[in-house]
Amino acid sequence: MEITKICCIGAGYVGGPTMAVIAQKCPHIQVTVVDLNEERILAWNDKNTNNIPIYEPGLDTIVAEARGRNLFFSTEVDKAIDEAQIIFISVNTPTKTYGKGKGMAADLKYIELCARQIARVAKSDKIVVEKSTLPVRTAEAIKSILDSTGNGVQFQILSNPEFLAEGTAVQDLLNPDRILIGGDTTEEGQKAIQALVDVYSNWVSSEKILMTNVWSSELSKLTANAFLAQRISSINAMSELCEKTGADVNEVAKAIGMDSRIGAKFLKASVGFGGSCFQKDILNLVYIAKSYGLNEVADYWEQVIIMNDHQKRRFSNNIVQTLYNTVADKKITFLGWAFKKDTNDTRESAAIYVANDLINEHANIAVYDPKVSRKKILSDLDYLETRTSEENGKSIFTFGDPYLSCEKAHAIAVLTEWDEFVHYDWQKIYDGMQKPAFVFDGRNILNKTELEDIGFVYQAIGS
Ligand code: NAD
Ligand code: UGA
Repeated sequence: MEITKICCIGAGYVGGPTMAVIAQKCPHIQVTVVDLNEERILAWNDKNTNNIPIYEPGLDTIVAEARGRNLFFSTEVDKAIDEAQIIFISVNTPTKTYGKGKGMAADLKYIELCARQIARVAKSDKIVVEKSTLPVRTAEAIKSILDSTGNGVQFQILSNPEFLAEGTAVQDLLNPDRILIGGDTTEEGQKAIQALVDVYSNWVSSEKILMTNVWSSELSKLTANAFLAQRISSINAMSELCEKTGADVNEVAKAIGMDSRIGAKFLKASVGFGGSCFQKDILNLVYIAKSYGLNEVADYWEQVIIMNDHQKRRFSNNIVQTLYNTVADKKITFLGWAFKKDTNDTRESAAIYVANDLINEHANIAVYDPKVSRKKILSDLDYLETRTSEENGKSIFTFGDPYLSCEKAHAIAVLTEWDEFVHYDWQKIYDGMQKPAFVFDGRNILNKTELEDIGFVYQAIGS
């Protein structure tokens, strides 16, 4: 079957960039990205591609090239479903905040709504692709909903998890380590897999396209994120031991990373991992393991989250302790609020939790982040429901200029590893601060010797 029309439900951090790259690489395929969120779709359609809702290096150029040619953003979900041969489901699958599995299981209500909408609207055979990260065996539930209409329309369900990381999404999509496609072993299943392989083959070489059964594909995504997050918790656990023993975590990471079996990537000690997925996916994995009675498996993976929470808490406790056990009415400047550099995404960012702890201690938090707005920062804090929005508003001061944000500060905490922080005039910053001037580098990006020579009291993670 030659694919000429694709639709994607969900114009978020995955749906938007992924479909933009498919459209760029497959000019013969019409790609329509739909979402219920009108504001988001309006932003995707903004004439000025600087205003698209997701900041990713290189994405604006791709959108500018393909949008209006074969890439479309719309709120007309039914129409897009009706016309498409392949429907990607890229909606959010957050941790449940209510009912059974609260705080652990993935909330699949958006997925189910999509399946029901597809079932209701589809008049011709469709390939439905799970792009969202889902618990293993979700395809079974989707299939049962799709097959319940009895109207003769045939559906094939594929699992095609996304492995892009934010901040490098475009590069990851253009040059993926692998594309994973899980499908049925039946003849129809194999045909559907081939149709999706043909789409990716427009720019990905065949040896990088991996085909598995549906359950392996679904579980591989959760496993990949669990392994990645586990590396960070492992190095962060060592960072605490380094601080006690005189070892330096950067040196330890380099030494172990040169072992080709361990590998050098993803061994950066930090204030703790954030992002919308690591915690959510591990909690989901823990929940699934528990639901099969696999308590040891569940406990093993849960420890990754426990360690991460500890690392964030340890960072804020250390700030309070170092500032003579009180931060009340002191100005603490946060450089960075995003969960990592080169993104405007703040979901589960360590900055939110560190700020929350310090506000509990009555600190005033000044924030400078090159891509995150005041509105977002306040809504992140409000989401924790620790105090009223008004109280949060009184404790958070946001700045568009990094130097101003550091004026008269008692301490600076680096929460995101934005490149620009390294190149600041640190002497100028020092001159404007209260003394002693403290820097808590939660990303180990600044030059210790340079800062100490200026006069800062500098503390990094793991040394
Ligand atoms: P997101 O919240 O940025 O985007 C999801 C979008 O889906 C939202 O705009 C929402 O309005 C829309 N939506 C929800 N229900 C809808 C419906 N019924 N009809 C139309 N639109 C609907 O989420 P995201 O970060 O893009 O993540 C999506 C999925 O991809 C999640 O399962 C996530 O785990 C997975 N994932 C995310 C990343 C990442 O880097 N963010 C990477 C790999 C996988
Ligand atoms: C992660 C995975 O890397 C992607 O493969 C996956 O597709 C995605 O989750 C997902 O499923 O959502 P992402 O969360 O966007 O991508 O970004 P990462 O680069 O993985 O960083 C996650 C967090 O870990 C960030 O807060 C980052 O600062 C932190 N981190 C990362 C460290 O503290 N140390 C490291 O060595 C690496």
